[in-house]
Amino acid sequence: MQPSRVFIVGSGVVGTATGTGLLAAGNTVTFIDISVPRVRHLQAQGLDARTELDLSSEPDSFIFLTLPTPNVGWRYDLGAFTAGTAAVGRALAGSSAQHTVVVRSTVSPGTTEGLVRPVLEENSGMTAGEGFRLASNPEFLRAVSAAEDFSHPWMTVIASRDPQAVARLRGLLEPFGGEMRTFSDPAEAEFIKCAHNIFNATKISFWNEMWLIAQKIGLDLDPIAATVAKSAEGSINPQYGIRGGAPYGGVCLPKDTCGFLGYSDAIGVDMPLLQAVVETNNRLESVVKQEVEAAGKAASGIPTA
Ligand SMILES: NC(=O)c1ccc[n+]([C@@H]2O[C@H](COP(=O)([O-])OP(=O)(O)OC[C@H]3O[C@@H](n4cnc5c(N)ncnc54)[C@H](O)[C@@H]3O)[C@@H](O)[C@H]2O)c1
Repeated sequence: MQPSRVFIVGSGVVGTATGTGLLAAGNTVTFIDISVPRVRHLQAQGLDARTELDLSSEPDSFIFLTLPTPNVGWRYDLGAFTAGTAAVGRALAGSSAQHTVVVRSTVSPGTTEGLVRPVLEENSGMTAGEGFRLASNPEFLRAVSAAEDFSHPWMTVIASRDPQAVARLRGLLEPFGGEMRTFSDPAEAEFIKCAHNIFNATKISFWNEMWLIAQKIGLDLDPIAATVAKSAEGSINPQYGIRGGAPYGGVCLPKDTCGFLGYSDAIGVDMPLLQAVVETNNRLESVVKQEVEAAGKAASGIPTA
């Protein structure tokens, strides 16, 4: 594989791990960051770091957007992300090479096509798929082991409407190993990354809620949780419980979720997550019921409101 030209836009935790990993693999990497102290810090390590992206005399390249996407209350603040993307668009305008812009920041589904694409097109005067390529490639690394996780990924997800962009990124990232999954819609990759993080967060909150119960009744949660990790089908079978549109049913799950809510109430521990589990299931049951009724009416020719 020929070495590639790579730019990292936003050289913090993810950008630095991505750039140094690609550099160690033999690629030519330049780090871009608006923070002068950050750029000086990277330069002091012998890295090519700059405050501005200049593509005027550069060959075809990969431009990774590893910009921050913090939340403000219940929404993402995409101010810095949008500003950094606009700067990439302006740099594209001064280049005749074919660049592949890769969204590696964590963003909500639809951001690559609904925000990044128009911002790049407006600022470059080019069209995605013609003047430049656009892809999503979310990062799964953990901050505590960022460099190691980048170099040994367990999963790489690439998505683009442009098969050439997928092929180019596959060529760049395949040497790092791990499982690779590709998609044709960037929203799929964005959804995977968000679901990945929310799933992890939900699991942690679930066990913290159980920990509060264990504390209340004087049990040590660790051996209990370690045993459930080996007994619950949701723990041992990765496919279990991830089929959307199908509420749980049968005897045990409805009975034990509701029954345990009464038990926790009796011992004085709130279980808001378990309450939400029951409410979500009730909601799904009525959605499915309405769908079945509508399908039945459609099949019998009765108009549906
Ligand atoms: N930290 C993690 O463990 C982790 C893991 C996976 C994904 N992510 C995601 O990756 C993205 C980056 O996260 P991070 O932790 O590396 O953030 P970070 O804050 O460590 O780094 C972001 C960098 O971008 C720079 N920056 C801000 N505006 C800029 C601009 N306009 N142009 C150039 N540089 C600019 C900042 O100065 C900073 O150095 C986020 O979307 C985050 O959710 C983070």
